[in-house]
Amino acid sequence: MSKPLLFAANWKMHLHPGEAGTFLDRFLTLDVPRSGRTVVFFPPAVSLQTVAARLEGHDHLLVGAQDVHWESAGAFTGATSVPLARGAGASAALVGHSERRHLFGETDQETAQKVAAVLGGGLQAMLCVGETLDQREAGTTVAVVERQLAAALTGVAPQADLVVAYEPVWAIGTGRNATPEDANAVHRSIRELLVGLGLPRSTRILYGGSVKPENVAALVEQPEVDGVLVGGASLDPASWATICATMAGVPGD
Ligand code: PGA
Repeated sequence: MSKPLLFAANWKMHLHPGEAGTFLDRFLTLDVPRSGRTVVFFPPAVSLQTVAARLEGHDHLLVGAQDVHWESAGAFTGATSVPLARGAGASAALVGHSERRHLFGETDQETAQKVAAVLGGGLQAMLCVGETLDQREAGTTVAVVERQLAAALTGVAPQADLVVAYEPVWAIGTGRNATPEDANAVHRSIRELLVGLGLPRSTRILYGGSVKPENVAALVEQPEVDGVLVGGASLDPASWATICATMAGVPGD
């Protein structure tokens, strides 16, 4: 038996519609097993519709927005609302990615407003949390993710369509990553914090930060890791297909 896994591709500011179409034409010819996995693509907003159209008829392949505004419409030049993302075919949205928090100054309060907008607008929210290197070295990893989770999720209903992604900031795009055991330990703390916030223990928790074909298996073998959120290694169809083909045994098999 293998446990179901969630594989999320964060394309960041890469792959315009033409490139996204070429990527998917190639990806869809590669042998990624369907069973026991869901794959979500987070293309840039301009490519949402192309990706959604290419994935039609593939129930285990979904598309989501990398970021949304908390207002549903209005004079917010450059922003994408939940209804706009939905209209382009999105069924999920990333919220609070560390690049939004650290490069664009997104606050915990804005992250909370975005989670509420995403869930209220009928999309799955994939909330990203994680500590910086300084915070890790100061031993405050769990306190940081606790603050981020409490800010974003207090009052969120237990049946909400929510996924959490733990992405240590120092591991994103750096080639450094947490050991599988370290990741598992933080995931276990996150699970307890979620339960403390009234959310189900079964909430999926993904790991992200320099995940590659070479290290994905050891990560998803960890009992608390339900999948991965991948940036750089999701930009090449072959490398992404290899990651998505990963299986993980259920402990005790
Ligand atoms: P990376 O990015 O896989 O390139 O480290 C992960 C992310 O930012 O979601």
